[in-house]
Order: sequence, then structure tokens, then C-alpha cells
Amino acid sequence: MRRKIIAGNWKMHKTIVEATALASAVKKEVGTLEHPSVVVCPPYTALTEVSMALKDSEIQVGAQNMHQEDSGAFTGEVSAEMVLTSGCSYVILGHSERRTLFSETDQLVNVKTRKALAVGLTPIVCVGETLAQRQAGRMEQVIEEQFNGSLEGLSADEIRRVVIAYEPVWAIGTGQVATPEQAEEVHRYIRGLLTRRYDQATAEEIAILYGGSVKGSNAAGLFAKENIDGALVGGASLKADEFVAIVRAMI
Ligand code: 13P
Repeated sequence: MRRKIIAGNWKMHKTIVEATALASAVKKEVGTLEHPSVVVCPPYTALTEVSMALKDSEIQVGAQNMHQEDSGAFTGEVSAEMVLTSGCSYVILGHSERRTLFSETDQLVNVKTRKALAVGLTPIVCVGETLAQRQAGRMEQVIEEQFNGSLEGLSADEIRRVVIAYEPVWAIGTGQVATPEQAEEVHRYIRGLLTRRYDQATAEEIAILYGGSVKGSNAAGLFAKENIDGALVGGASLKADEFVAIVRAMI
């Protein structure tokens, strides 16, 4: 059976004290759950303390980004090994905010993905179209380009260690969630791309998460779809009860 994952992307929210309190509150409710896998992604500054707070639980910690080089004169950047040794097992890569606000390209996302895999992190690689692209009928083309570019050259063994997140840009932080049917259509399309590049057995193993205005009240409808294997949650992951409601919708 495919892995099911609920990941919270805390973006640039929560000081160390706030982050630890939120992680502890989530742990209290779903800390012993093995299925689905629960992942929280605090800002870099809180990774170590949150990892420590979650040490005796099943909840995993992820970073929201990382640099692709091992070390060097890259002021303000953080390496894969730094992320790993802060207690992370996951890293979000190619989030649309990174692509739009920090000019990250598919090629850069690809280099970062390979680096994450090389150090033993599970990359959550994000793809998703803008509203203009969707309205212009270019959705599939955009997804295919991001898929091909960001995941270029990965072996079947490597792709099995990748999680893909479909996050339509128009649904992120807008309250306008994709309908289960809209999301499922793209998830099925992505699984088809995986089947074409690898084979059906490999494609079936890969978790594809949906992200964009997921809440406790709309999660179950999304999770009922065959190709939706969990969620990458932004705003709703900042409140323990709302995030826990999303996790419970998957059980
Ligand atoms: P929201 O859940 O706030 O729409 O954010 C989604 C997201 O960007 C998760 O990475």
C-alpha cells in the first residue's frame, strides 16, 4: 500500500518557543500514529528544538528548503547535512513561493532533489500551475514541464524515495481549495507521467500530496480520491486542532 502523509508547512511563522508548543500539542493528539505519516516543517531556527520535542513520537520533521552545495561562502544558506543533523528526515523543495519569490527553476529544484536524496532526506517536490496557466488550458503542459525538469534523471530507486506535492498556485493561501475532482485529475495525470517514465508498479508506490487551502472540513473529500495520498498543509497547520483534524480525516 502507498504511504499516506500529512505534512504541515509552517512557512515563516513561529518562534522557537511557539514552534515547540505547537509541535507538542500535535504530538499529544497524534504522536503515536504510524499511518498516516505526520510531518511538521518549521522554520530553520526551530528545527532542532522541534525535533527534540518530538523525539519520542512517530512525528517526523522537515525543512522548507535547503541549499544544494555541501558548504561554502553562501551567506544565509543552509546545507542538506545541516538540515539532516537538525533532526529532519524530510525537506520541501520547489515550493511555488520559492519558485516565484526566490526565482527557483526546475533545474535548481532538480539539483537540490538529488542532493537531498544523496544525504538521505526525503524530498517533497512541489509542482502546480497558476490560474492564468489553467485558464489558458496549459495545466497539463506546465505540470509535465515541472515534473520533467525537477525530477530529471532520477532512477526508479530514487523516485521511490521522493514525495510529490501538487499545489495549484491559485489555491495556496486563498481559501479556494481545488475540488476533489480537480485535484484527482491532476494527481492521476502525474501518476501517468510516473508510469510512462518508470513503470506502473513504481508509479503506484509514490505518494502524491495535495496542497492549497486544505482544512479539517475539506480534507476527507480530497482523501477519498484514489490518487490523493495526503496533504501539504499551510495555514491550517499553524493550529494544532485544525491540523489534527486533517490528520484524523486520513485515518
Ligand atoms: P495553504 O494551506 O495556506 O493554502 O498553503 C498551502 C501550501 O503552500 C503548503 O505548502
